[in-house]
Amino acid sequence: MDLPWNDERSNKFITNVGLITTNGPYGADVMACEWTHHVSYRPGLIAVCIGPNKATHENIKQTKEFGVNLCSTDQSIMSSVAGGYTGSSYNKINALKELGFEFYEAKKIKVTMIKGAALNIECILSNEIPLGDHTTFVGEAIEASNNADKVPLAYHGGRYFVLNTNVVKPSQEERERIRRIIEKHKR
Ligand SMILES: Cc1cc2nc3c(=O)[nH]c(=O)nc-3n(C[C@H](O)[C@H](O)[C@H](O)COP(=O)(O)O)c2cc1C
Repeated sequence: MDLPWNDERSNKFITNVGLITTNGPYGADVMACEWTHHVSYRPGLIAVCIGPNKATHENIKQTKEFGVNLCSTDQSIMSSVAGGYTGSSYNKINALKELGFEFYEAKKIKVTMIKGAALNIECILSNEIPLGDHTTFVGEAIEASNNADKVPLAYHGGRYFVLNTNVVKPSQEERERIRRIIEKHKR
């Protein structure tokens, strides 16, 4: 069966917005990618699932490198621009500069990175897997910097959210009760 875009079931997932930066046949580009996942610690691997008709797809295929910039809570406009226009027709990076966003040149790859993102990771392509209607590009991190002051934006049901409420932990007594039940079911 299918789980189409904007279907109420597809919309239940909570995701990050990865702002994926590339530089290839379409020139310097940035796209919004909610399917951005940290998939290995050693080595650090990031998987991004990208539709084959995107400029970013062709840029990664040709250059075998990309930047992962986790969109922060004050960059939702950047996400909407990066996700609403294609690099095959628009220079989104120049437009975003004019809108006041700042960029810097990656240290180890030939890609523009985003200042003020919650996390910046420079990746070289390690694997490319066609999966359904998207391609999963797996990138190996070769440079990564955390922006401690920035909080990643959450995306859910087509809207942006700020995560700021912790679920209250169960009491010590309740945790003890849970532990006793689990112990009863030990194999
Ligand atoms: C919040 C958001 C998340 C998105 N996530 C994805 C995604 O995970 N994969 C994908 O292929 N497109 C995704 N898109 C759509 C692309 O960002 C959009 O098609 C963009 O125009 C592609 O740009 P490009 O052609 O310059 O690469 C998303 C759009 C938005 C607004």
